[in-house]
Order: sequence, then structure tokens, then C-alpha cells
Amino acid sequence: MSGTSGDKVLVTGALGQIGTDLVQALRERHGGDSVIASDIRESSGHSSVEGGPFVILDVLDTDGISRICQSEGVGTIYHLAALLSAVGERDPDLCRRINVGGTISVLEAAKECNLRVYSPSSIAVFGPDSPRNATQESPLNPTTVYGETKVTGEALAREYLERFNVDTRGIRYPGLISYKAPAGGGTTDYAVEIFHAALNEGHYQCFVRPDTRLPMLYMDDAINATLSLMDSGADDLGDSRSGYNIPCLSFSAGELADAISDRVEGFTCDFVPDVRQEYADSWPDSIDGSLAEEEWGWTPEYDLISLVDEMLRGISSP
Ligand code: NAD
Ligand code: SER
Repeated sequence: MSGTSGDKVLVTGALGQIGTDLVQALRERHGGDSVIASDIRESSGHSSVEGGPFVILDVLDTDGISRICQSEGVGTIYHLAALLSAVGERDPDLCRRINVGGTISVLEAAKECNLRVYSPSSIAVFGPDSPRNATQESPLNPTTVYGETKVTGEALAREYLERFNVDTRGIRYPGLISYKAPAGGGTTDYAVEIFHAALNEGHYQCFVRPDTRLPMLYMDDAINATLSLMDSGADDLGDSRSGYNIPCLSFSAGELADAISDRVEGFTCDFVPDVRQEYADSWPDSIDGSLAEEEWGWTPEYDLISLVDEMLRGISSP
């Protein structure tokens, strides 16, 4: 190791749905200059670009990651760059290259530079053989390539921890619902798009059936869970640290549409399933996050009603 372990933080994929909120939260905590946002693309006016340091960085470029970490004194990477399920299933080779190759690059840089790594997993690690309420120990047999890359990502994180003592951590995020950035091409995007459509057009055509029930969380809860896991003492974390189930909400697309209809006068929704229905059907309805609750004590604050209220308020505010 030619090690930094500095105080600064590097975020990959910082212009995406999670990065937009996470970079803001990290900058509030650590100060703007201490959080280096990065992405493969530039986006002028984006808060991750304007609010502090921003660099163009391809996560497949291990040397580039190591160079930035050493020259800037980075000690922790939040690795968010990836292709999500809907985009990933359209180009499985690219999905494997970015999701698996990018994770290896980040872990190699972490080994070289003595970094802590947060690398998110997903409920997409589960497949149709999982119980409808998936536990931490339920089998991981996904039928999507995206899900396979997430199972591999968890295994890689475990391997780098065990063989090279890299401090790796991750959460199996459910569908995340937020208003500051658009959803990035996943199956759960309907649960974000529906709010914008309700307020802008009064109508949404949903691409999954109304009875499609998935684990979901409001973004503020996901960010708090992430920071809470990264704040935890290593001794508190057991064998599931590279991919924790966390306590989540679980509601159907129809229940979400009804909750919005109760608040947006005249809103209508119809349901015309496309190929994403198949991916949604392969995932569990809910997940059991009791292990995360026991080991590092985290629970969500938002329920369906407060989430809907926050989303409508956030999108309506200038
Ligand atoms: P997103 O698609 O919104 O953002 C990903 C970002 O990565 C984009 O800004 C993109 O430009 C960037 N990127 C793509 N290829 C890159 C490359 N080669 N180098 C650098 N950057 C690159 O995704 P997100 O929703 O913010 O998800 C972040 C992570 O969380 C991913 O690992 C995803 O699998 C996981 N996750 C997200 C959700 C969710 O609901 N958003 C749920 C489960 C897991
Ligand atoms: N929200 C993500 C997706 O739908 C799940 O990882 O792809």
C-alpha cells in the first residue's frame, strides 16, 4: 500500500439519483471542499458540480481513481457509478463491464490507497425463488444480469475485506424515491415518475401492474441509512456488511397511485406493463431488515403517506 487514508471523500456516479442527495448530505457534514464529486459526464448547473470540487472520472480507470485519492488525500469512496436494471438488461455486456469492472477498479484503488469503500447492492440480488418477504439469508439467484452484477459486487467486497483488509460496506437498497434528480433507468423508476406526471400532466401511464408490490424507501431515509452504516464501528458489523437488507416500506403501484390521487385532484393513472414487469415480478415484495436493525440500529422515518407528502412538496417548491 502506498497509502493515503486521508480525510476527504470521493463519490463516483455523483450526478445520479442517489449521488445528487448523498453529495449534498456529505458536504453538509464534512464541508464542501472535502467531498469530491465525480462522474463520467459533465452537467453544468448540477449541485454536485457547482457545490464543491467535481472531476470527470470513469470508474473503469483504476489508475485515475488512485491518482485522485493520493493527490487529494481521499480516505473513503462512495461508489455509486453503475447501470440500473432497465438500462442494464438492454446491454448486458456493458452492464457487467461497468457494474463488475467498476467495482473491481474501485476496490483495487482502495487496496492500493488504503481507502474505506461504500458500494451499494440492491434488492435485485434476489430472484423468483426468494420468499416474498426476503430475509438476509434468502437465496441469491437473480434472473436479471443487473442482479447478477450486484451479487458479484457483494462477493467482491467480501473478498477484498477478507484478503486485503479493505473496509467495505454496502446496503441492498430497495427502490428509492426522490425529487432532486430523475431516477436513473431502473425498474422502480415508476415510483418517481408518477409524482412528476401527477403534478405536471394530471395523468401517468405506469409500466407495471397495479398489484406490483416492491420494497421502497424515501431518499432521505436511504441517505441516513448509508451514513449510519458508515459511522458504525467495524466490530458491530457481521458477515452481511457488504450487502445488508434494511427495514423498508412495501407498497403496490396501485396503493401509491391511490395515495397520490387522494392529494392531487383529478389525477388518473393507468397501467400498461412492459418488459420491466418481468424484472419487478422476479424481486421480493418486501425485505426483512432486522439484522441491520440489530447490528447498527437503523430504522426508517418515512411511511407511504409522509413520503408522498414530501415528494409533492419537493416537486412543487421552486
Ligand atoms: P443513476 O443511474 O441515477 O446514477 C449512476 C451514475 O453513474 C450516473 O450519473 C452515470 O453517469 C454514472 N456512470 C455510469 N457509468 C459510469 C462510469 N463508467 N464511470 C463513472 N460514472 C459512471 O444510479 P443511482 O440510482 O444513483 O444508483 C447508484 C447505485 O445505487 C448503483 O449501484 C445502483 O445499482 C444502486 N441502487 C440504486 C437504487 C435506486 O433505486 N436508485 C436501488 C438499488 C440500488
Ligand atoms: N431501483 C433499482 C432498479 O430498479 C433496483 O436496484 O434497477
